Amino acid sequence: MADYDYDVLVIGAGPGGYVAAIRAAQLGLRTACAESRETLGGTCLNVGCIPSKALLHASHLYEEAHSGALARWGVKVEGASLDLDAMHASRKEAVTGLTGGVAFLFKKNKVDWLKGLATFTGKDSVEVAGKTYRAKNIVIATGSSVTPLPGVEIDHQSIIDSTSALELPKVPDHLVVIGGGVIGLELGSVWRRLGAKVTVVEYLDQILPGMDGEIRKEAAKIFRKQGIEIVTSTKVTGATKTDKGVTLTVEPAAGGEASTIEADVVLVSIGRRPNTEGLGLDKAGIELNKRSQIETDHSFATKVDGIWAIGDVIPGPMLAHKAEDEGIAVAENIAGLTGIVNHDVIPSVVYTLPEIAGVGLTEEQAREKGEIKVGKFPMAGNSRAKTIHDTTGFVKVIADAKTDRVLGAWIITSVAGTMIAQVAQAMEFGATSEDIAYTCHAHPTHSEAIKEAAMAVLGKPIHV
Ligand code: FAD
Ligand code: NAI
Repeated sequence: MADYDYDVLVIGAGPGGYVAAIRAAQLGLRTACAESRETLGGTCLNVGCIPSKALLHASHLYEEAHSGALARWGVKVEGASLDLDAMHASRKEAVTGLTGGVAFLFKKNKVDWLKGLATFTGKDSVEVAGKTYRAKNIVIATGSSVTPLPGVEIDHQSIIDSTSALELPKVPDHLVVIGGGVIGLELGSVWRRLGAKVTVVEYLDQILPGMDGEIRKEAAKIFRKQGIEIVTSTKVTGATKTDKGVTLTVEPAAGGEASTIEADVVLVSIGRRPNTEGLGLDKAGIELNKRSQIETDHSFATKVDGIWAIGDVIPGPMLAHKAEDEGIAVAENIAGLTGIVNHDVIPSVVYTLPEIAGVGLTEEQAREKGEIKVGKFPMAGNSRAKTIHDTTGFVKVIADAKTDRVLGAWIITSVAGTMIAQVAQAMEFGATSEDIAYTCHAHPTHSEAIKEAAMAVLGKPIHV
């Protein structure tokens, strides 16, 4: 039975959904995208990647100017002061520019934006703002939201989530971050740089779960040196609001005596969970797994014919670039092409200073799978890093002991996020550490440290 309003209707205009919609339209499919926010771009552009990076950049500039760090370069700054309103204005400008850019791309590619909350009314129909639309293919790209912590209710004033942490009207005296993951460390860094005392309370025995063990240790050492207090193996069991802020009750993760921490502001950043509630998934016949995610096959098809899912709402790392690549792949699959995402090679980056980046297996994961060789190179041996007094961190390359094929790489240095792309590309091409070691790298660049780490896999690097 034909008579569809659209070939493709995407629910959610985050990096997964808006990219899927644009790609589908580029491939000649009649496409619409439903989005309930006032602006397009999802979590990433509105309250995630973009505003957080804007504040990370601005707070870094402030710290450099304010702390006197520039004096060693012969740059004397006197009387540097913080204009938080102007900083927020520049953050908003970045967001508005990019979300407006997506609206422009929708118009250019003839993607209809259906404004409002979409709910399934059947396997091939959804209702948005009181109107029902039928589509041959429906892509669920509804993303994720903050995981709440029972007993620590978010009020967006003294107990906040990542969205309110981007908008604090004044620098708190003491910010306590619950969760030593990516959000806690990025946003904790922002407010520390702007003058807050920051304490991170982490349930596990180390911060940054999922990353390489050595990197996690090094990162904790560096953040502590920067002044962030990190309390591990500790769980928060409750919060009481006081005149001054919040009293948190904490106890050892393994159980034991409770104690309290006084905070002006508490940031809850213990992870995110998929947005599947209120979507009417039962009407479409879609079931969720134990983690409330929608399962798909490699083509991003769900078990229900014509319904697809991508991004944070399906299993895998909750990252914008993963969602985007899945968006392109799903549109290509719907159009009858072959869209593939290699989930083994998805880089992840923490945008603190130094940045922390990784791709592929951690050393621990690789050792479990078989025999490996590991090459490490300290940034202290890299000429560019030395020239700009930026010698913190190292590069680690992990390769298969027999085939020399690169299995993973981990980098901690100021520009790690940019550097990791070359290893991801090398891994996509099935490169060996020898391939990287014998590739000519421009001098003087931080990237030479990757070449030297690959040389260390083979035997010896030159500059240590
Ligand atoms: P989302 O971006 O969450 O978009 C889903 C959209 O669907 C939302 O706009 C929502 O309003 C809409 N929606 C939901 N339900 C409905 C419905 N029923 N009808 C209509 N619309 C609906 N990732 C990175 O890779 N790099 C980073 O630097 C980074 N920084 C981050 C910083 C923060 C503070 C946060 C919170 C996240 C960050 N992330 C980062 C993660 C990244 O934002 C997500 O992985 C990414 O946005 C997921 O994309 P998505 O398209 O799956 O979903
Ligand atoms: P996360 O999963 O990165 O970290 C959550 C941390 O909280 C973990 O270390 C976990 O052990 C800890 N935790 C869980 N329950 C706890 C409890 N009760 N008490 C104390 N600690 C507890 O989640 P986060 O930081 O909230 O970020 C959510 C997602 O957003 C991430 O998965 C990430 O993919 C994405 N993101 C990505 C960014 C990037 O790519 N640069 C930046 C920010 C977010």
